[in-house]
Amino acid sequence: MAIKLLFVCLGNICRSPAAEGIMLDLIQKAGLSDHIHCDSAGTSNYHIGDPPDSRMVMTARQRDIHLQSLARQFHGSDFENFDLILAMDRENYQDILRLDTDGKYRDKVHLICDFCQSHAQKDVPDPYYGGRDGFELVLDLLTDACQGLLVHLKETYPDLGCS
Ligand code: 4NP
Repeated sequence: MAIKLLFVCLGNICRSPAAEGIMLDLIQKAGLSDHIHCDSAGTSNYHIGDPPDSRMVMTARQRDIHLQSLARQFHGSDFENFDLILAMDRENYQDILRLDTDGKYRDKVHLICDFCQSHAQKDVPDPYYGGRDGFELVLDLLTDACQGLLVHLKETYPDLGCS
């Protein structure tokens, strides 16, 4: 059995690919690659098929995180196909919940910053129209959140990696 995580932002070219890359790195270092799978998506259709934003790729590469996904749009079937859906900000969170018309999957959807252990922010700010600092902040917040998420998964699934 593998736990399936889906990271979601607006465009799926900055924040959610970075979250996916950071989480994949943590999972690999923890020896859990067969047990936790990751994907990412955007709530918009703006960048379908595009690689991650070059500024996000470069900033992540400096931390030895390599981003490789291609953008796709969040789809209703993702509610069934993933165990946890991690929204980057409250707008993404609301946009996702709006597609869950009868509230069946509500408990699967979380703000990723709720897993932060060192930062108090609720949102990973959209870096697209800003400067370099915004991309560094995205990586700082997501590293904290993904570390906390891994702790949460190990606590929730104590047999993780045992089979
Ligand atoms: P992301 O950033 O949601 O972190 O991928 C954005 C990327 C593109 C746009 C907005 C945010 N856009 O408006 O095209």
